[in-house]
Amino acid sequence: MANEIGSTSILDADEKIPIAQLSGVYKIFKQKKIEVMALRGIDLKIYPGELVVIMGPSGSGKTTLLNCLCGIERPNAGSVKIKGMEITKLRDEGIQKLLQEEIGIVFQSFNLIPSLTAAGNVELPMIVLGHLSKKDRRTRVEDLLTKVGLDHRLHHRPATLSGGEKQRLSIAMAFANDPALIIADEPTANVDSVSAESIMAVFKEFMASNPNKALLIVTHDPALRKIADYTLVIRDGQFVRKIESKADKGSRFDSESYNEDDFITDIDMARMDEKTTRIIQQKNYPYFKDVKICPNCHSMNILKKMDVSEPFCQIIDAKIIQRASIFCKECNELSFVTITAHDLNKVKIERMGFD
Ligand SMILES: Nc1ncnc2c1ncn2[C@@H]1O[C@H](COP(=O)(O)OP(=O)(O)OP(=O)(O)O)[C@@H](O)[C@H]1O
Ligand SMILES: [Mg+2]
Repeated sequence: MANEIGSTSILDADEKIPIAQLSGVYKIFKQKKIEVMALRGIDLKIYPGELVVIMGPSGSGKTTLLNCLCGIERPNAGSVKIKGMEITKLRDEGIQKLLQEEIGIVFQSFNLIPSLTAAGNVELPMIVLGHLSKKDRRTRVEDLLTKVGLDHRLHHRPATLSGGEKQRLSIAMAFANDPALIIADEPTANVDSVSAESIMAVFKEFMASNPNKALLIVTHDPALRKIADYTLVIRDGQFVRKIESKADKGSRFDSESYNEDDFITDIDMARMDEKTTRIIQQKNYPYFKDVKICPNCHSMNILKKMDVSEPFCQIIDAKIIQRASIFCKECNELSFVTITAHDLNKVKIERMGFD
């Protein structure tokens, strides 16, 4: 049952021990009489030096996967090894040690302690681990906060920081004890594009200066996916696709410059119903600058088509109300959005382009 998509191609590197290895991992949540199978046989190997991205629709099991990988959740079946050590049977102390020493977590919700300053937050994991003297801790805190561009915010409390600064602070916390693996859950989801860029720069720098460490990021951010070794697409608790990105880095994930024909030939037709197939086979996709992401999974890897016939195109109160079909290559969903155009001339020009 377990699918193989998550295994890397470095299978000849037998002597290399993966930093993280999940084999046939299942996770079922039970609430009263309802069971949700959040993970259905996940296989994944992350080797030193790898940056792996996971993406998938909401509810597909991304956070559950990260939680199982770091011991926060126990899987119902399967094995989870960190640096060769099985962690599914560890008692509390073992999990705590794992989280203190081997895995740094960047939570989507930041998980900062409001009463501590930025420096205090980063120092806390070091105090808990107890490996460093006070002087060494302070030096490391300053180094880390400088690396994430917060050296001017050492004594600020989280409430006084912007969203991007909080996110960078939570990254510095994850790095505090120099873990072998950093896992990050949507690290750029709640920040503006400038902050997202600086967060990406921090991860890039981490990979460049720590060739024996690894990074696993849940994200829909195309910029982060571009710097990854590969992206795994998860759906209903299973990996359904592996996208190598270093080999074909570039336009593939760049919605501004993609070649539509490439996309059309690359679509998994087998997964689509007849109606969807008909829609994507019409090659006259208009370019709607306003519609950039899949409403279902937020991927930018989408095909778009304006529905110009009645009843999908109407003029109401001098506004054009029009429906656009969006086919998402990542989650294979067909969605519809309604575009309200206040500027009639602009829309007319756009429509002339694809009529
Ligand atoms: N503690 C829980 N109890 C019951 N069901 C849960 C629990 N945690 C997650 N689930 C369910 O498991 C499935 C996977 O949830 P998960 O949080 O892993 O999804 P996700 O891919 O991270 O989604 P999102 O993109 O919205 O964060 C969902 O159907 C969710 O409702
Ligand atoms: Mg989640």
